[in-house]
Amino acid sequence: MTKQHIDRTVDRRTFLQVSGVAAAAALSSVHGATAQESAAPLKVGLIGCGGRGTGALRNALLADEGTVCWALGDAFEDMARECLKNIRKERKVADRVNVEDSRIFTGLDAYKGVIESCDVVILATPPGFRPLHLTAVAEAGKHCFCEKPVAVDGPGIRTVLEACRIMKEKKANLVSGLCYRYEKKKQEILRRIHEGAVGEITAVECVYNTSGLWHKGRKPEWSELDYQLRNWLYFDWLSGDHITEQHIHSLDKMLWIMGNKPPVKAWASGGRTVRTDEKYGNIYDHFNTVFEWENGVKGFSSCRQWENATTAVYDNAYGTTGVARVQEHIIQDRQGNVTWKWDSPEPDDMYQNELDALFAAIRAGQHIDNSQYMIDSNIMAIMGRAAAYSGQVVTYQQVLESEVALFPSLDDLKAGRVPIRPVPVPGKGQYI
Ligand SMILES: NC(=O)c1ccc[n+]([C@@H]2O[C@H](COP(=O)([O-])OP(=O)(O)OC[C@H]3O[C@@H](n4cnc5c(N)ncnc54)[C@H](O)[C@@H]3O)[C@@H](O)[C@H]2O)c1
Repeated sequence: MTKQHIDRTVDRRTFLQVSGVAAAAALSSVHGATAQESAAPLKVGLIGCGGRGTGALRNALLADEGTVCWALGDAFEDMARECLKNIRKERKVADRVNVEDSRIFTGLDAYKGVIESCDVVILATPPGFRPLHLTAVAEAGKHCFCEKPVAVDGPGIRTVLEACRIMKEKKANLVSGLCYRYEKKKQEILRRIHEGAVGEITAVECVYNTSGLWHKGRKPEWSELDYQLRNWLYFDWLSGDHITEQHIHSLDKMLWIMGNKPPVKAWASGGRTVRTDEKYGNIYDHFNTVFEWENGVKGFSSCRQWENATTAVYDNAYGTTGVARVQEHIIQDRQGNVTWKWDSPEPDDMYQNELDALFAAIRAGQHIDNSQYMIDSNIMAIMGRAAAYSGQVVTYQQVLESEVALFPSLDDLKAGRVPIRPVPVPGKGQYI
């Protein structure tokens, strides 16, 4: 796979096929469209109406005055209605929220109605569903803002690879929710690293040690599926474990530092020492992983979710002449003197920047394809997880070819066959 690909040569016929009349009008703006045409509305739909989805929807509406919030989809009606209530409270965008009851889709098939009725789709459900949803977006030829992670297992990765191939073929825009890629400060420090500001990279380190996360409890009227969906963080088939769900941001920065070249192998340890209660499903609460690149450079990664413990989030690139502290936006020489730091006062909201980029590309008839790093950072997360679960060295290629499926079929879920797996024990069970 190659670097992020921005294809500025979308031909008119292909683009018309991508997203219907609204996008056609949008494209025509670069060919001298009338003001009326270039302001044609883009219908935005959200699948997964929780915290992040609602935030991304708001960002989408702020990004482009020609957007209309048109459809909402969620497994649960209360979540969709709550999202609608919240987005209607957003003063700057409320007048462009036009979701009739008939366009509130619920249940496990909710994604179909949203995709069918909209030009631009935001995917923000728990990641286990992402391969299925992204495939449907790709087949419909719609533009997409796709939250991370995109898969929880090898089969899911392969499904996403195919969906991305289709999107590329159709020139449908695909912006990943790996938001740091859209932060100007990060772009600038990464540019400097790649220009040699710390010399040759000798090692990379990333840490995401946080506190515990939310839990919604269990209500008597909930089925097992309801319970797991409401508490999706704690189930491997839904979240991919927290190394995938949360730490992927750090792994993606590691990948970026290494010039978007993925590591060849990983070994790891992990477990659960704090979150041992059954309510925390079957995931771990800490991972320590070493990644190794083809040139022998190693990346040291640590993540944990522990209450009442020291928290730290940072990413360092160590080089022959200095160190880049990526999260702090500082570069130092080997004596510790600061040789560069970000000090621009310009606004830099990465969540807004990524949606701004998506709509600017749609309007200008350009093509953003974030698939390569979106998938490779996800593979890194699965490498680390599988290495910790199994106690084995796990390669990039093994994840790519893995037949171990954590996510069941939609039919299984609809029939109430919900995965209930034990906490992984290294040396027992198959994890890759
Ligand atoms: N980029 C970031 O910084 C960032 C931050 C937070 C979350 N996220 C990602 O965004 C996604 C959502 O996270 P969140 O914090 O909003 O979670 P959330 O629990 O607040 O929202 C998820 C929503 O999806 C719904 N849902 C579950 N299964 C569904 C299905 N099959 N079809 C339709 N809806 C379904 C849930 O009912 C819920 O409303 C995750 O992938 C998460 O990793 C990214």
